[in-house]
Amino acid sequence: MTAIETADLTKEFGSLCAVDSLNLNIDGEIFGLLGPNGSGKTTTVLMLTTLIRQTRGSASVCGYDTLKEPDKVRGCLSYVPQDMAVDTNLTGRENMLIFARLYGIDNPKDKVDELLGVMDLSGRADDLAKTYSGGMRRRLELAEALVHEPEVIFLDEPTLGLDVSARKKIWQYIHNLNKKGMTIFVTTHYMDEAEKFCDRVGIIDNGKITALGSPAELKAGLMSDVITVRIEGEYHPVNKDGILYVGNSGDEYSYTSENGSEALPVLADALKISGNNVMAMSIHEPSLDDVFLQSVGKQEEEQGFEEWKYRLMLRRR
Ligand SMILES: Nc1ncnc2c1ncn2[C@@H]1O[C@H](COP(=O)(O)OP(=O)(O)O)[C@@H](O)[C@H]1O
Ligand SMILES: [Mg+2]
Repeated sequence: MTAIETADLTKEFGSLCAVDSLNLNIDGEIFGLLGPNGSGKTTTVLMLTTLIRQTRGSASVCGYDTLKEPDKVRGCLSYVPQDMAVDTNLTGRENMLIFARLYGIDNPKDKVDELLGVMDLSGRADDLAKTYSGGMRRRLELAEALVHEPEVIFLDEPTLGLDVSARKKIWQYIHNLNKKGMTIFVTTHYMDEAEKFCDRVGIIDNGKITALGSPAELKAGLMSDVITVRIEGEYHPVNKDGILYVGNSGDEYSYTSENGSEALPVLADALKISGNNVMAMSIHEPSLDDVFLQSVGKQEEEQGFEEWKYRLMLRRR
């Protein structure tokens, strides 16, 4: 049985397709759904956790269909939403006890003690949650999510707004939970985090998965080096053997090549000859950011192709 499975899972809000034909198979791993704001991450999580119904397609969690057996689905998963869900006027322990009682846990006090320990909150358990740092509140929410020993955990942007060291710590806990056998579905728009901590990632843009695989597999789709060029003013494309255009993010244009230091002067010349105003150039190893740029670029090319086919069809009429 697969922990999370979707088939053509789709959600439309009026004319907006927020999630478009998602096909996923996730089991026993830390899976990261990656994408910019508004790309459809939260909508996906809401469908998988039975909180909203899809427009089309199907999804199952722990083998249970999200529409046909929502209670069973809810029984085997936990969901930590994007927005903080801790009552800050209660202590950490009180917050935990509410959850334990809601789930009807036997010996709630022992369970709460154990989980506060797992999340390193024992020392502050009897302080009001409003005195906690953002990272501690997140850890309290994680502890709450573990009360009924779920098989699958959904975390929506668990590190949003936290500082670097708190973010690292959260990922360490996520990793430990996964080692104990839990499947983790986590969304983030921090590509660097996903690259370090996820077994596999799906990159989502405008509701569509544009790349799916382990970070290493996805990066292997690019050549060994990436050259990033900052260009002021209008961009004029260039075409050079062995140097492939990846995509751009604002005024930074990326290319990939097997040998960055050889390609850099060649690219610099070509860009100048084409009339580009090059402000800076740098070489680095491919990252998931580059995979994202490339996958989005490909999608735009395909859309361009669709538009071209449509125009052709109009002309033939
Ligand atoms: N309840 C809703 N009604 C209408 N549009 C929505 C609703 N929820 C989300 N959207 C839209 O769906 C798209 C995806 O949103 P969301 O899943 O929240 O993105 P993300 O979590 O990746 O930032 C966005 O364009 C958002 O504005
Ligand atoms: Mg979101």
